[in-house]
Amino acid sequence: MSEHLSERPADAVLSCEGLQKSFGSVRALSDIAFWARRGEVTALIGDNGAGKSTLVRCLVGVHRPDAGAIQFDGEMHPFSNPDEARKAGIETVHQNLSLIDELTVAQNLYLNREIVRRVGPFALLDRRAMDKGAVAMLSRLSINVPSVGQRVRRLSGGQRQAISICRAVGAGAKVVVMDEPTAALGVQETANVEALIRRLKEEHVSVILVSHNFDQVLRLSDQVWVMRAGRVVASVRAADTTGNRLVALVTGAH
Ligand SMILES: Nc1ncnc2c1ncn2[C@@H]1O[C@H](COP(=O)(O)OP(=O)(O)OP(=O)(O)O)[C@@H](O)[C@H]1O
Ligand SMILES: [Mg+2]
Repeated sequence: MSEHLSERPADAVLSCEGLQKSFGSVRALSDIAFWARRGEVTALIGDNGAGKSTLVRCLVGVHRPDAGAIQFDGEMHPFSNPDEARKAGIETVHQNLSLIDELTVAQNLYLNREIVRRVGPFALLDRRAMDKGAVAMLSRLSINVPSVGQRVRRLSGGQRQAISICRAVGAGAKVVVMDEPTAALGVQETANVEALIRRLKEEHVSVILVSHNFDQVLRLSDQVWVMRAGRVVASVRAADTTGNRLVALVTGAH
């Protein structure tokens, strides 16, 4: 079992090297090297303020790093914004879900990529096609909602999380980044989101999962990265480690 920071593997789908990011005098990221393998679930753990969200936000174009190189799908990138990352195939499910309460499930799933039907000189939203597509997307991931015509305001936290993930995957993402997807969820809803993550993996979608739940990380992930105070301090195979070992790595206890 090696906790040494290993070389980037040939099948890395998303990786970075030498990444630095400061906010004023706060150095949030120092010299970060990180990679996620294609088709794997890659977990990112660390205490509050360790830099996990900042790292994923740099990877998906929300933040512009001060220095460092990012590679996605064999090409050098820094994405200048999340739209660019999305077009390239990286979807992000942020903790404050970007669903619109007053729209229906189907409208949320097709937000910013609506299906349009031409009638003579007019472009009309094709609601029937979008409802049909929404039903297909939801059933592909075995997500249960009362109806795709339901406003998301009426849905539970777990259902909303599922819709966000479904929207990400529906866009044909190669990588889905989830920042604490189950932090606010109950036991059953957490189990549903975990089942969804497993299904993504079966469909060869790569997942990057930020989580404070080490049992969940051990259940779901293949590779675990540990951050402490803006640095990566370990990278281990989940199968080769234990919850106690992860606690020790996160806290720096020997
Ligand atoms: N937009 C910002 N402006 C200023 N400082 C920030 C900003 N975002 C993060 N920071 C700082 O950067 C450091 C890393 O924060 P980050 O949110 O990445 O931590 P985290 O590991 O995601 O923590 P948590 O587990 O609490 O979500 C912290 O010191 C935080 O205060
Ligand atoms: Mg965070």
